[in-house]
Amino acid sequence: MNTKDRILKMLTDKKGRFVSGEQISEELGISRTAVWKHILKLKEEGHSIQSTNRLGYQLVNSGDIYDRSSVLSKLNTKILGRNLFFFDEIDSTNDELKKMAADGAPDGTVVIARYQSAGRGRRGRTWQSDADAGIYMSVLLRPELAPDAVQSITLAASSAVCRALEKYVPDRMGIKWPNDILINNRKVCGILTEMTAEPDKVQAIILGIGLNVLQKEDDFSGELKETATSLCLNTDREISRSLLVAEILHELEDLYLNFIEKGSGAKFMDIWRSFSITIGRDIIIYQGDNKWQAKALDILDDGRLLVETPDGMRHTILSGEISIRSYGG
Ligand code: BTN
Repeated sequence: MNTKDRILKMLTDKKGRFVSGEQISEELGISRTAVWKHILKLKEEGHSIQSTNRLGYQLVNSGDIYDRSSVLSKLNTKILGRNLFFFDEIDSTNDELKKMAADGAPDGTVVIARYQSAGRGRRGRTWQSDADAGIYMSVLLRPELAPDAVQSITLAASSAVCRALEKYVPDRMGIKWPNDILINNRKVCGILTEMTAEPDKVQAIILGIGLNVLQKEDDFSGELKETATSLCLNTDREISRSLLVAEILHELEDLYLNFIEKGSGAKFMDIWRSFSITIGRDIIIYQGDNKWQAKALDILDDGRLLVETPDGMRHTILSGEISIRSYGG
């Protein structure tokens, strides 16, 4: 973290109270003039900082300032997001992070963009990524695991997002297998997981998280008008995207490190099951041109869905798309 970001963090931690110029200068080992210059820069970036000669500096209301400094000031992770890149515009955060991964970027590197000109969804679809409406974020993970762990990591990601969103939307939120997060049966978040691997070892997993945050109903176009929603349409709470990013990364790190340390995904599987709107439902499964009906019985620890077809046979599904019949979605 650079000096300016550290000052913002100090002010954020003391939000609502003044921090003296003297205290900042002593803690960071810089002159009072240098402190003042950094404060001016933070103000230019839009941070609302009140300064008085006697008391020092106070962060008044950072609202939804969404930039690298503001995310860093809220971050309390050990690994995820510590190497953070923030773009005003990019084609796709997943594509950018993939290049960085190939150049050796470390575990936990995060790329965020305000706007994506070519945001990608699963199965070759595009992801509507309007400027300053959603969170478009990719996280690089380099676990020492076999490639088939990738599906579990995706489930950890959807579980982490649900945990972070829970306090904004205490009910009506659920996960549709494998990792679509819905509120009232409309999609609020999608996750695109991509991987490079050797035959028996993961090199890089890129978790791309697209979360609709500030969109109003009219902002969704085409079929999204019927199928998508945003967080602000479903909560009365004040939303700060910087804080949300920090909360998602915090929850994800917790589940990821637990998975690595314990060698078991039990913790996030419990969370995933508690949010599941798939298990126990009659579903339609779409795989390529095939479409078939089944009942979703459970999710296995490796992320496969266990289903039973009307003839009583049981199958597991590793990938595909489902709709939930009684939801019509
Ligand atoms: C889905 O189809 O449900 C997955 C959508 C994933 C969108 C995110 S936005 C950030 C990252 N960059 C991309 O190009 N896609 C993912």
